[in-house]
Parts: sequence; C-alpha cells; structure tokens
Amino acid sequence: MPDGQVTPPLQPESLPMKPLHILFDRTPELEPSLPTPLRELYGGHLGFPQNKSMLPYVIGNFVSTLDGVVSYQIPGHSGGSTISGSNPGDRFIMGLLRASADAVLVGSGTVHDVSPKHLWIPTFAYPEAAEVYKSYRVKVLRKPEEPLVVIVTGSGKLDLQRAIFQAHEIQKVVFTTPDGLEELTRRGAARLPSVEVRSIEPHETRLTARAILEQLSTEFKVRLVLHEGGPMLFGGFMAERLVNELFLTVAPQMAGRQESAIRPGIIAGVEFSPNEAPWFELLSTRQQANHLYLRYRLVV
Ligand SMILES: NC(=O)c1ccc[n+]([C@@H]2O[C@H](COP(=O)([O-])OP(=O)(O)OC[C@H]3O[C@@H](n4cnc5c(N)ncnc54)[C@H](OP(=O)(O)O)[C@@H]3O)[C@@H](O)[C@H]2O)c1
Repeated sequence: MPDGQVTPPLQPESLPMKPLHILFDRTPELEPSLPTPLRELYGGHLGFPQNKSMLPYVIGNFVSTLDGVVSYQIPGHSGGSTISGSNPGDRFIMGLLRASADAVLVGSGTVHDVSPKHLWIPTFAYPEAAEVYKSYRVKVLRKPEEPLVVIVTGSGKLDLQRAIFQAHEIQKVVFTTPDGLEELTRRGAARLPSVEVRSIEPHETRLTARAILEQLSTEFKVRLVLHEGGPMLFGGFMAERLVNELFLTVAPQMAGRQESAIRPGIIAGVEFSPNEAPWFELLSTRQQANHLYLRYRLVV
C-alpha cells in the first residue's frame, strides 16, 4: 500500500476462520471491549480483571489431546501445533491472548522444542489477523506493538541462535539463576539485541513463580502475563497457586503414553494430594467443528 494511505479496517468475513460457536459463557463483561471483528470471531467478550495483589494476573494457554497429552515428545512433532492439528480456532485464540497480554512467558524446554523460527507474538500464532490484533493492542489497549517475551531457564543453556533472540523488535527478558547468568554471559547473551538477563536466587534449584512475577511487576510494569508453559514451568506456578485462569483447547485425538517414556500433561514435576488439588470454575465453552475451547478460573 502506498505511503500515506490508511489500512482499511478488517472485516470478520475477510478472515478465513469461521466465528467460534459459544456453547456456554458467563465471563464477566469487562472494559475495554474487543473491536468488532475480534468480538465476532471470538464470539463474545474477553476481558481480564486487575489482580488485587501487586502481582500480575496470570492466564495459562494449552492445547491437550482427549487423553491429556500436551506434547508427543518426538523431535519435530513436540509442539502444541501437532496436538491441535494447527487448528485455526486454537491459533486465533492464542494470537488474541498474546495481543491482550503485557508479557508472554515460556520455559526453556518449550523454547527448544518448537520451531527455531518461533516468535511469541500475536501475528506468529495467527498471521491472518495481524492487522486487527495490532489495532486492538495499540489503539484500544494502548500497549506496545509486541508483548514482552519472558524466558525462564535455570541452567542458562539457551540456544541463542533461535529467531526470538535475534528479533530486534521484540523485547525479551531471561530469568535465570546466578549460575545461569554466568552461562548466558559466556554465550554472549549481553551482546544480543533487545535481550535482558536477570538473575534470581533460586529456591533449591528452581526460581519461584512469585519472584518472577514480582520482578515482572516492579521492573517491567507487567499487569497481565500469558503463561504458555511448558508443563514444568506451569507446574511450578500452579504449585504456588499463581495462575488465575486457564484457556484450554481440547483437540479430538488420543496420543497415548508408554509406561517408560512419559508424554506430559499440562503439569509436570508437581503433584497434588486429592484434598489440596486446585479446583477451577468454568467461565466459557466455545466450539468449532470437533475442537473445544475452554476458559477456566482458579477457585480461591
Ligand atoms: N500443548 C501445549 O499447549 C504446549 C504448551 C507449551 C509447551 N508444550 C510442550 O511441552 C514440552 C516442554 O515441556 P517442559 O516441561 O520441558 O517445558 P518448559 O517448562 O517450557 O521447560 C522446562 C525447562 O524450563 C526451565 N524451567 C522451568 N521452570 C523453571 C523454574 N521454576 N526455574 C528455573 N528454570 C525453570 C528449565 O530450564 P533449564 O533446563 O534450562 O534449567 C527446565 O528444564 C515441549 O514439547 C513443548 O512443545 C506444549
């Protein structure tokens, strides 16, 4: 388009995805509203309350098979897109959540298991809605063009050749241990564009969710975190009860598990006793063909 011309607003019918069908919705209607094309595709409103504490509000996003598997653990087929079958509804919601969040959080296992080209930004999830996501994020939510990408590693052994570390336009912060900081410095992380590294004293070998969230709040002014896992990082957050909501896509396939090689569910490395296991309340259910899109809130 020549300079000076204004991009026409995208209409829902110009996007390839059919609107999601609402089966059940009791999400509180919170300001600001989604712009019309996103509201029509999503089939209703999406809004997030402010956390009452100083910590950011945390929403998780996973796609799981019917039998609860989130990764095949097969090189080249480990990511969520294999589980969802690259489902447009799942990709659209992931893009919408990324567009809404101040920060997108992932663990190093996920960084290394998805495509080396992966960028944790709205457009990468669902490029078809790039313009509407951008307009929602920048004009309605008044947030920077891309969310802050937050990566957690204890060891500091990150593959810094991946596209996310080379993308100037995307701000990144890596949270690690003092040993991890040394490793990252040795690997040249400080010379990379838009990458900051913060070391936090671990509790035993792991960083606590609370310490990560406190620093995101105080130093980076983050109020809404999208937690994209994986299971180990998410397990730690759930153990500390620091996840407020879960957006879960249920893909209509079964992956199965061998006794020896464990394919993870949405939580790894943590288990709850029946009387301590967190309960969630259902906020909404959407459907498109054979996929279900569930939104849950932690019962506190
Ligand atoms: N289906 C879905 O929706 C979905 C979503 C996300 C991920 N996945 C899949 O899940 C698999 C990855 O699972 P995962 O459990 O290994 O993922 P992960 O939690 O992303 O990565 C685990 C690694 O992250 C670091 N880490 C996590 N929690 C930490 C903490 N509290 N403190 C310090 N470091 C921490 C550690 O890195 P270091 O070893 O470097 O110390 C750890 O080895 C991948 O196949 C991915 O594609 C699926």
